[in-house]
Amino acid sequence: MSKKFSQKDVYEPSEETRRYAWVNNERIYEMALDYLTFWDSVAKNDIEWFEPYREVLDSSNAPFYRWFVGGKINITHNCLDRHVETKGDKTAIIWQGEPENEKERITYRELYRRVCRFANALRALGVRKEDVVTIYMGMVPELPIAMLACARIGAIHNVVFGGFSATALRDRINDANSKVVVTMDGYYRRGKVIETKRIVDKALEGCNVESVVVLERIGNDVNMVDGRDVWWHELEEGLPNKCECKALDSEHTLFILYTSGTTGKPKGVLHVHGGYNVGTHITTKWVFDLKDRDVFWCTADIGWITGHSYVVYGPLSNGATVLIYEGAPDYPQPDRWWSIIEQYGVTVFYTAPTAIRYFMKLGEEWLKKHNLSSLRLLGTVGETIDPKAWKWYYKYVGNERCPVIDTWWQTETGMIIIAPLPGITKLKPGSVTLPFPGILVNIRDEDGNPADSGELVIMNPWPAMFRNLWGEPERFVKQYWRLDGSGRLIYYAEDGARRDGDGYYWIIGRIDEVLKVSGHRLGSAEIESALISHEAVSEAAVIGKPHEIKGQVPIAFVVLKTGYEPSVKLEKDLKTHVRNEIGAIAVPEEIYFVEQLPKTRSGKIVRRILLAIEKGEEIGDITTLEDVTVVERIKDVRRAK
Ligand code: WT7
Repeated sequence: MSKKFSQKDVYEPSEETRRYAWVNNERIYEMALDYLTFWDSVAKNDIEWFEPYREVLDSSNAPFYRWFVGGKINITHNCLDRHVETKGDKTAIIWQGEPENEKERITYRELYRRVCRFANALRALGVRKEDVVTIYMGMVPELPIAMLACARIGAIHNVVFGGFSATALRDRINDANSKVVVTMDGYYRRGKVIETKRIVDKALEGCNVESVVVLERIGNDVNMVDGRDVWWHELEEGLPNKCECKALDSEHTLFILYTSGTTGKPKGVLHVHGGYNVGTHITTKWVFDLKDRDVFWCTADIGWITGHSYVVYGPLSNGATVLIYEGAPDYPQPDRWWSIIEQYGVTVFYTAPTAIRYFMKLGEEWLKKHNLSSLRLLGTVGETIDPKAWKWYYKYVGNERCPVIDTWWQTETGMIIIAPLPGITKLKPGSVTLPFPGILVNIRDEDGNPADSGELVIMNPWPAMFRNLWGEPERFVKQYWRLDGSGRLIYYAEDGARRDGDGYYWIIGRIDEVLKVSGHRLGSAEIESALISHEAVSEAAVIGKPHEIKGQVPIAFVVLKTGYEPSVKLEKDLKTHVRNEIGAIAVPEEIYFVEQLPKTRSGKIVRRILLAIEKGEEIGDITTLEDVTVVERIKDVRRAK
């Protein structure tokens, strides 16, 4: 074991946290070793079923696992109906607009009614079970309302992050074969209006969509296409605020969510009602130790999996109060988040390392202006949090009272997989600690043998696991699942990891060509294909360069077609092009025009070499390159800039 892993830096759960916690018996891990019995008891104790399932897990067609076989369920029953009876007047959603005077509190009863009404509206449009509804909105209550309305009638939602461009939106609408789009006129970001509907109009130039529902949020001018576009409030007029909760098969698809991988084409990750409900419910409850009086704020955009699982479904299934904030973290001032925490008495706060690093850089003064004593637990997700940022978060946000809960998971896993349980787990800054009860995690070396360092794998299926990739079952099987020596099918996470002497996990980062830019997942290949789609570009390679706040930023190496010359203007054009193709988050920080890319004799681009050049590190072995002189020539281009 390397020295780095002999840990002196250990934080024990406080007496108060331990006493208060849902889980305060260390034996839980042992008790959950029989994982099917464990998940069976969670599903029975915490989730309501219209009809009981016959079998916890069916592995007969692995990796197409089926959970809670034969059960009938609807996740919206567990998120709404059952709470209306017991706590209808409790606040479900606190919404804060970016303008300070725009806010709203929605009780469980009101949320239930609004979901039902919109579900009826979707039905009126002709949306039926299994139809795909694409949702492209900012952070307003109607976004979760639209998601829940889809789920209620058995339709499949396909939420596209509001920061994606018209082209990226079009690709996702078309790939999902979606006939209905739900959107809005616009929303606020940094005091400006983002004109969402305008982006949708552009996206729809290349789509065959039947209807577009438009929420009026701002009142800005929008173009309504006759026979296709309809206002949300007009569609709802006269519709009842009750709508039958469709009893669905446990394995009925709940949503598609596109995420980046190694190829240019994003993958449509599929999740289902039953297992996803069970997995997100119990992880929300135990990892965040959520109680009835909590105010839970997960700052993720609902357009990403973190928002699906821990803004919408997990907390609502627990009957919690969630906070949704529309705007930028530092608008109008860098203390906006802290002022929101103070104003609403947020108790559990879940954010990303990139945000923590950003606020760390701005300085503690902004925090000290506010009383943050309502906080009792802090979470983090999206990339590795370095011990320095961990300790800053612990000290200045949590005032050394709140455990920092680092959670590892993915769009594919649907639910948190590795994280501390606040009442029992000792914390080590920088470590995601231990797998959640009922989940068996391990590490494999390059030959597929168990090791203390290598690729992170999950050994058993888990309830909220993705069930497939939309339209790409072969890719689902090939990409993620491998048989080990004993014939066991194992999930490969594509993350590098180490385990220390205490069995604690330390995540190193992606081992594939996937970048994490401010916590957002982007494929090198995706940005490369955006660049190549520009008329001037013949070839492109994109790497993730380490960045102090964003974690990584994309850097592009571009080979131009004959007839095109490098210029400042062309560089600007290419950046705009990437912004239009994918979105602002994908724009390369730097573009280098090179004559050639480093390639192996078989023609594979060796991005590792570009990264080493960019970081000014030893290049290592280049003998496999087709042309070794390319390295020096690329270095010259960088120096000249
Ligand atoms: C990738 C998944 C679902 C969470 C949000 C991102 C990285 C996630 C951690 C963590 C180190 C982390 C991994 C993973 N990641 N959480 N706590 N420590 N790395 O979901 O966009 O699907 O990205 O995020 O590299 O593979 P995603």
